[in-house]
Amino acid sequence: MDRAFENALDLWKPWLWMSPSAGHDWLPFFLKLTVFLAEQSKQPNDWHSRKWRHLYFRNPVGIAGGLDKTGQSIDAWWSLGAGFVEVGTVTPLPQQPNPGKIIDRFKETQALWNKMGFPSPGYKAVCVEIEKNFEERSTPIFLNIGKNRTTPNERAHEDYLFLMKQMYSVCDVFVVNISSPNTAGLRQLFTKDYFEPLMEKLGNESRRVNRPLLLKISPDESNEQLETILTTSHNQGVDGYIISNTTIQRPTASPYPADGGVSGKPLSISSMETLKNVISMLGTHRNNKLIINAGGISTGEDVRERMALGADLCQLYSSLIFRGPFIFKKIAREYQNSI
Ligand SMILES: Cc1cc2nc3c(=O)[nH]c(=O)nc-3n(C[C@H](O)[C@H](O)[C@H](O)COP(=O)(O)O)c2cc1C
Repeated sequence: MDRAFENALDLWKPWLWMSPSAGHDWLPFFLKLTVFLAEQSKQPNDWHSRKWRHLYFRNPVGIAGGLDKTGQSIDAWWSLGAGFVEVGTVTPLPQQPNPGKIIDRFKETQALWNKMGFPSPGYKAVCVEIEKNFEERSTPIFLNIGKNRTTPNERAHEDYLFLMKQMYSVCDVFVVNISSPNTAGLRQLFTKDYFEPLMEKLGNESRRVNRPLLLKISPDESNEQLETILTTSHNQGVDGYIISNTTIQRPTASPYPADGGVSGKPLSISSMETLKNVISMLGTHRNNKLIINAGGISTGEDVRERMALGADLCQLYSSLIFRGPFIFKKIAREYQNSI
């Protein structure tokens, strides 16, 4: 029954008939529609399960930051078969998206382009959404935190600390996002003057509230910058990395707008390169750090490849748009068939 619906939905993919931004807005509706059918499925959602610290991941494929910015669909992701959920990016105060066009989709290259800039209802509304599911939640919840665009970099640490203090009780892990290309000047927080003091403060707070801290990395850093980022964050006790955010690099004769970030298939190579570099640069310092890879992951084969490179877990965003909400089930089957 669910496979018949899955096949029909594959042929039709109604959200791809809508404009990219309307498709994005209607996503929660499509999720609700498919959840019931996914729940009837006898296909197990536990495969390649693992524990990290006290957290249990029933499978290694989660949703990446930005797909559920408010936490409104946590239950739906779980029912559809995700192994874990990342909520956010959430900002302290509510804020609108950047002006103008903020998302586009490129079917031929299986890519998304976005320039959203952390649209968020603010931390209070996100706490309410997550708390609605709090008792029943069975998925590890990662919370991706960002600063408001009006907060100057000199005071950025205040936004991140505020979010950690206010929101630790509704999440299992924090993800620090200073790698988005869509908030002016945000990536400067990786530079020497800001980065070490920021990591020191956030590292201390993560230990105080007893929530691991992951750093989301850009695929656009030079090897030298990456080495500095890893050394500094390791020294300040960061617990892991998400590799990577969207890229500002463009291929020659690029169909994508010049500003904003590109994700999906065209990000695969630089995301995997950054993953390899992070693992080799960390060397023995990797210890029990959690390494998550995102960037063009779409099939069970992709998951297998990223894990073979050393990733503990994987995340996806763009491929869900192209393959639909049954993607977690499809990946599980593909992964098992590729053994
Ligand atoms: C429309 C869109 C919005 C995004 N918003 C966020 C965000 O708010 N926070 C974040 O850390 N990453 C955000 N990302 C980046 C994704 O989390 C992910 O790192 C990136 O898209 C690579 O994965 P993918 O190739 O599977 O899409 C966004 C990506 C897209 C396409």
